[in-house]
Amino acid sequence: KNNKLQLYGNSLESFLSEKRTPFFLFLENRFRDNALVFRNNLQKFIPNLFVSYAIKANYLGRILYNAKKLDLGIEVMSLFELKLAHKAGIPNSKIIFNGPAKTREELEFALEKDIQYLNVDSMNELILIETLAKKTGVVQPITIRIHPQLKEKTEKRMLIRKNSKLGIDFTRAIKLFSYAKKSAHLKPAGVHTHIGTNLTSHDFYDELLLFLNSYIKDLENKHDIEIKEINLGGGLASKSVLDQNEFQLSRLGEQVSSHITNIEDKIIIFEPGRYLIEDSFIALTKVLRTKKSWGRKWAFTDIGANSLIPMRYSNYKVVPLNFKGEGQYTNIGGPLCLPVDVISDESVNFDIQEEDLLIILNCGAYTISMSEQFGYPRPAIYALNQDNALELIKQADDIDTMVNDSF
Ligand SMILES: Cc1ncc(COP(=O)(O)O)c(C=O)c1O
Repeated sequence: KNNKLQLYGNSLESFLSEKRTPFFLFLENRFRDNALVFRNNLQKFIPNLFVSYAIKANYLGRILYNAKKLDLGIEVMSLFELKLAHKAGIPNSKIIFNGPAKTREELEFALEKDIQYLNVDSMNELILIETLAKKTGVVQPITIRIHPQLKEKTEKRMLIRKNSKLGIDFTRAIKLFSYAKKSAHLKPAGVHTHIGTNLTSHDFYDELLLFLNSYIKDLENKHDIEIKEINLGGGLASKSVLDQNEFQLSRLGEQVSSHITNIEDKIIIFEPGRYLIEDSFIALTKVLRTKKSWGRKWAFTDIGANSLIPMRYSNYKVVPLNFKGEGQYTNIGGPLCLPVDVISDESVNFDIQEEDLLIILNCGAYTISMSEQFGYPRPAIYALNQDNALELIKQADDIDTMVNDSF
């Protein structure tokens, strides 16, 4: 409005520009809306749906409290993440524990706490869980992470391919299901699969679900192994990216219900990370320097790739806090003395001057949780709460403390 960026009807300038840059801003309402849209659309078609937030995407306590309020489960990959989920009050019955090389300590903790969804990634892990379950005197339900059978063309489009370190090929996985069935301390409960991120294709889900349904039928009919849980992992792109690609969550729900036999007897699990959190964060940054070189204009911001990790699947977008008119196409780079520290490559053509404030959109997924100090303090984090008020939720790193910590 009047060339000033608005957020939920407020001019961003009015309450952001006095804050010291750079900083992240968590949009609590957006996270909430994303979670409700996700669940409501799928629930129309899936009677027993369990949505579990993948906290590796961003594990700030404030997000976890929101997840708890929204009655989401939590998907974790380490003892640290498991303890974060506990601190936020997530019950053990709503925690999924994934990972290819969990430690004995992590597994003992999981068994002791009666973690409901334990995903197994190898035969040796299964045997270790059996030993620990015997010692503790429990019967542990387990889910096996498989790599499904997909067309070569589909495999090529995926981040996690056949030869990946994650999961077990679907034929070998049968041995793990059979082993678990024979054990007095293991109970095979589910099939898990997760092979990509930023997924935008309904065709992929048709292929995956067709395969999973026949795989589960084989397990049930040929091997007499009952499968209660089908975990479809995470991997969906954010809402705005899905909208651009005409992907509809309700259609995904329909796909699941039409492909899975006896769906009313199964629990269908999703572990979204990016979908819930990517567009729930923005960052505010100041332009420190501009220059021209090789015919290009550059603007250097005070946030860099140590916070905005340059991932292949990120969807950062740079917009001005105040639009002052069109200008030359400009590359946006961070302050790091590193060539990879580029936030946007000739994709903006608004007028940019030193001291201008810019907003980076879509920066909630795999940024804060993967960030490095790398020469600079990590930025502060604020939340725009449900009453549209700003709250500091994490201070920026303090340079003197950083110096002391290095000695
Ligand atoms: C097992 C598992 N589930 C869920 C996720 C979340 O993926 P995304 O953020 O793409 O939804 C990941 C991400 O690596 C994962 O490894």
